[in-house]
Amino acid sequence: MNFRARILGAAAGGGLPQWNCGCANCNAARRGEIPAQSQSSLAVSANGTDWAILNASPDIRTQMADAPVLHPTGLRNLPLKSVLITNGDIDHIAGLLTLREMQAFDLYSTSEILDFIGQNTVFDALREDVVARRAIRLGETFELVPGLECSLFSVPGKVPLYLEGEEVQTDLEGEQTVGVEMQAGGQKVYYIPGCAAFPSSLEERVRGADAVFFDGTLWADDEMVRAGLSQKTGKRMGHMSISGADGTMVAFAGLDVGRKVFVHMNNTNPVLRPGAPERREAEAAGWVIGQDGMEMSL
Ligand code: MLT
Ligand code: MN
Ligand code: ZN
Repeated sequence: MNFRARILGAAAGGGLPQWNCGCANCNAARRGEIPAQSQSSLAVSANGTDWAILNASPDIRTQMADAPVLHPTGLRNLPLKSVLITNGDIDHIAGLLTLREMQAFDLYSTSEILDFIGQNTVFDALREDVVARRAIRLGETFELVPGLECSLFSVPGKVPLYLEGEEVQTDLEGEQTVGVEMQAGGQKVYYIPGCAAFPSSLEERVRGADAVFFDGTLWADDEMVRAGLSQKTGKRMGHMSISGADGTMVAFAGLDVGRKVFVHMNNTNPVLRPGAPERREAEAAGWVIGQDGMEMSL
């Protein structure tokens, strides 16, 4: 057994380019000057044969078509055995609707996230007698695919945008936003695509990990405000930022993590531009900027 991963989509919700966005990065991606990136998803395996997809993005159809390891091995035989959802955001669940062709797999998440999905009857298209919904308690160990021992833990976050009320708590710790701990062949890997803050409990958890795939949504908290695209800061969206005193680069300095990879990057993020000074700064701090199709084998 050895851990393998393939980034199916390195961008946050919207992707790069986002359909309605005329920002510098989106226009550069349309012109082919920087690589386009699809929406947030990671495929993982421990035996190289059976695969799980962590978060089902709206781009899952082309992501799977582009990933030879996920192609059918028979008429209806698929390497894809499981799908795991880390929050109820649209970029992480809409792809479930693409997986509706009476194909059996297991759908794993917390009971709270499975409830968000269950309350929306369009997801009944994934018939429960075909796609088993498996609610996992925080801290419970389960085998996501053969040889890959996993558990879920809460990370600070908020409810999905479509469930926000008048008052929004952006640093909830519960079942609505989780990270995934994965172990295979003695290696420990974390997948945390959405994280609003970095409490000391999270610091202790990831210390010394072999690899971490982490929320790289924004470079700076006010990036979208300054670009004139939104009134929302990263914190309001439930995402800590890469730079700054309370940012991700500082948080991970000294944590002795083997490989650090940013995923779930918003299309405004300057690290999406090869050669940008911000990207060089992140790379100098030991980070890899994830991109579609990037593979890791430990
Ligand atoms: C997020 O990660 O902040 C969400 O995906 C935003 C959204 O649902 O568009
Ligand atoms: Mn998202
Ligand atoms: Zn844009």
